[in-house]
Amino acid sequence: MKTIQKVLLALAVVGSMSVVSADGAGTFKKCTACHGAKAEKKALGKSAIIQGWKADKVVTALKGYKDGTYGGAMKGVMKGQVLHLSDADIEAVAAYIETLK
Ligand code: HEC
Repeated sequence: MKTIQKVLLALAVVGSMSVVSADGAGTFKKCTACHGAKAEKKALGKSAIIQGWKADKVVTALKGYKDGTYGGAMKGVMKGQVLHLSDADIEAVAAYIETLK
């Protein structure tokens, strides 16, 4: 398997674990492998750096990945990340990302 496939497989496993509460910091733990502990990285070398993005902007992106109205060439990767998140989870993780620096 290519490294990228291993990464995606590992993340698919992580992504399938259920989130019990709308805990932004807790939800963000599933994002750090690609986006960095402080959201300081370009995920897989492709995304924008989302550190400090306004919560509204993150919510628009995440809901858009969910319903297919947002994203670039790798939006399929993000769809897998957000499909299982509730609106409350999305709002909580967005509020958390806004605080990162
Ligand atoms: C498997 C790696 C991976 C994981 C895990 C991941 N992302 Fe992403 N993320 C990406 C990639 C790749 C993109 C760019 C997708 C595209 O082409 O639109 C992206 C894009 C984004 C964007 C929009 C940035 C832009 O370029 O417009 C946001 C916001 C985002 N991710 C948030 C999250 C959050 C929140 C989580 C955790 C719930 C998460 N991501 C988990 C890889 C990942």
